[in-house]
Amino acid sequence: MSGNDTASSHVLIDDVTLHLGRPVTSDHRWVGQSESLRSLLACWLVVCDEDLPLAPRLIGPPGIGKTTLASAAARSRGQELYIFQCTSDTRPEDLLVTPVLAESGRISYHASALVTAMIRGGVCVLDEGNRMSEKSWASLAPLLDYRRYAESIIAGVTIHAHADFRCVVTMNDDESTYEVPEYILSRLQPTIELGFPDRADEMEILRYHVPFARAELLQLTVDFLQKAHTLDLEHSPRDGIHIIRYALKRLAQAEGDAPGTGHPLSTDAAWLEAVQGVLGEDATDLDRVAAERERALQSSAAGAGLSLDDLFFGDHQPPGGFGPTAPDDES
Ligand SMILES: Nc1ncnc2c1ncn2[C@@H]1O[C@H](COP(=O)(O)OP(=O)(O)OP(=O)(O)O)[C@@H](O)[C@H]1O
Ligand SMILES: [Mg+2]
Repeated sequence: MSGNDTASSHVLIDDVTLHLGRPVTSDHRWVGQSESLRSLLACWLVVCDEDLPLAPRLIGPPGIGKTTLASAAARSRGQELYIFQCTSDTRPEDLLVTPVLAESGRISYHASALVTAMIRGGVCVLDEGNRMSEKSWASLAPLLDYRRYAESIIAGVTIHAHADFRCVVTMNDDESTYEVPEYILSRLQPTIELGFPDRADEMEILRYHVPFARAELLQLTVDFLQKAHTLDLEHSPRDGIHIIRYALKRLAQAEGDAPGTGHPLSTDAAWLEAVQGVLGEDATDLDRVAAERERALQSSAAGAGLSLDDLFFGDHQPPGGFGPTAPDDES
C-alpha cells in the first residue's frame, strides 16, 4: 500500500477487519534550525537493504517546536503524518487497536494513529511520550526494535510495519511525566535535543506565524525571548506567538473603541499587558519599565548617541534587561 493512497479506510489482517484512521494535515513550515531537521531526517534514512530506520526521541521544553519539527520532517519526505497524543490515561489497546460497538451490534476494530501509520507506511509522532505509563510502552517494545511488529491482544492480530513506516517520540522535560522504562529508552535512539532558536531564527518564526504583526511588536518579543533564553527561562516561541497575538487584539480592540483617534493604547502598553496575560503577573514589572524608559529618554536627550531603538531593541541592554522592561534589573 502506498503512503499516499488515501482511498482504503480498512484492511484485512488474519481475517480481522481493521478500520484505519486518517492522517493529519499540517502545512506548517519548519523555520531555521535546519540542523535539527537534518538530524531527524538522517534517523529515518535507510542506507542499504539490511538497514532499518531509527526511532529517535525529540526532547526539549514545552512550546519549543518538537511537534512542528516532527510534522515538518514527515512533510519533507512526502509521507502521511499521524500524531498519537500520549497521556497518562493511554491504555495499551488505545495505542494499537480499539474495539468499538458498531450500529449492527457487532464489534468493529479501529486502528490507532500509530497502527494506521504502520499499515499505510506513514510517519507516526508519538507526542509527549513520557506522559504514558510503562504498561502502555511495553506493548511497543517489538515495534521499536528490529522486529517492527505490534501485537493487538484485543483484536488477536500481529501487525507488521510497512517498510516506509517511520516513528519519532517527542518528550517534555517537565514534571508531570512518567519515567519511561530503560528498555524502551534504549530503543528510542538517538536523542535529538531541540534548543531555543537564535535571534534571527526567532524573528523569522514569529514573523512566519504572525505576518500581520507590526515590526515593533515582533522586535519587543524577540528581545524579550532572547533575554529569557540567556537567563535559562523556558519562555518559548509559542509564548512569543501568544504574546504578539494578544497584544494585536488588544490594540485592535482599543482602536475599535475609539475609532479614528489613533491608538488610544500604546504598543508598549499592549505588549506588556500581553506578556503579563500570557506569562503571569511576575513576568514583567510596569514600574520598572517606566523607570527604564525614563532613563533611556534622558540618555537619549543627553546626546549619548543612542536612539530609542538602540536602547530598547539593540545590543546595548543593561545586564538582566530585556527590551523596554527589566524585571530583575535593580540598576
Ligand atoms: N522552528 C520553528 N519553525 C516554525 N514554527 C515553530 C518553530 N519553533 C516553534 N514554532 C511554533 O511554536 C509553536 C509551538 O511549537 P510546538 O507545538 O511544535 O512545540 P512543542 O515543543 O511540541 O510543545 P509541547 O511540548 O507543548 O507539545 C507552534 O506554533 C510552532 O509552529
Ligand atoms: Mg508538542
